[in-house]
Amino acid sequence: MQLILGIESSCDETGIALYHTGRGLLAHTLHSQVALHNEYGGVVPELASRDHVRYVLPLIRSVMQNAGCTLGDVDAIAYTQGPGLSGALLVGSSVACALAYTLNVPTIGVHHLEGHLLSPLLSDPAPEFPFVALLVSGGHTQLMRVDGVGRYTLLGESVDDAAGEAFDKSAKLLGLDYPGGALLAKLAKSGTPGRFKLPRPMLNSGDLDFSFSGLKTAVLTLTQQNETDEQTRADIAHAAQEAIVDVLVSKSLSALGQTGLDQLVIAGGVGANQLLRSRLNEAIGKRGGKVFYPDLEFCTDNGAMIAFAGAMRLQQQAGRHDYRFNVKPRWDLRELNYAD
Ligand code: KG4
Ligand code: ZN
Repeated sequence: MQLILGIESSCDETGIALYHTGRGLLAHTLHSQVALHNEYGGVVPELASRDHVRYVLPLIRSVMQNAGCTLGDVDAIAYTQGPGLSGALLVGSSVACALAYTLNVPTIGVHHLEGHLLSPLLSDPAPEFPFVALLVSGGHTQLMRVDGVGRYTLLGESVDDAAGEAFDKSAKLLGLDYPGGALLAKLAKSGTPGRFKLPRPMLNSGDLDFSFSGLKTAVLTLTQQNETDEQTRADIAHAAQEAIVDVLVSKSLSALGQTGLDQLVIAGGVGANQLLRSRLNEAIGKRGGKVFYPDLEFCTDNGAMIAFAGAMRLQQQAGRHDYRFNVKPRWDLRELNYAD
């Protein structure tokens, strides 16, 4: 049995968690920087790093307290090694390496997307391997076949904007704050179905790739061609959400068809979208199979998924003892297969 401290600091959230291989998740906490970056309309990397510096140690202390543990109980420290903002990643990695050095325990550099991919295993019921995962975050849109921990096959991905980016950019064009995904979904609730119809790029491309940049241009055109009163903005938001969700649902079903698998797992921030969830439930209900969502708090960035992925990796291969601050701001998930 091992106790793993997890540190997530790849972007604009400081997430800390303690995962025990026998008792499960003991405690976790999160500090979001959304309010800090709000006025800039996007994440400012330098501000993000400084804020991580401010919060990482107090949050570690609070998680220890909540779990009734001390640093001396920790067997390994997992941190997000990449991909992400280099300065932000460096905060988590330097704290992880310094703490691990003083405690004489190994570190585990976790791939942020592996954290998202495995996060549904933290929820009950959890999927069983193999499954198809739709990874939809602010930076990534990928369909993966997951055969086990560390055994991932990319089935398709976005050739341009990520789904979360499409939500965020459309939201920005409609005058909403950053990140606008959830705000756009809220606005879309009062939208008139069918007033506007937006393109579904690559819906019938025959492969499992996505493209969302045309959608942003189409939203821009609509905002320029129409009076942007409250109702029209809601109608455009409605059309944008319908288009994004439609493509995500259709490609996810094709991925199940192509792989012959029956379990679909949704991971990443866009997985919090209620329309996506209800459409997927409906489609899977008709087709047969099962769809799994991480609990909402584990959909967006969090420390629990990093502690958990670290725990899984520690069971497969030893952590490292060299304590070098080796972050990977760009890191292809395909480099990660380590179970073969
Ligand atoms: O996984 P995540 O927290 O961070 C990244 O690693 O990117 O995902 C953040 C993304 C943002 O683009 C945000 O707008 C989107 O997830 N998002 C949503 C919703 N909640 C968060 N998009 C649509 N509907 C939502 N309810
Ligand atoms: Zn993420």
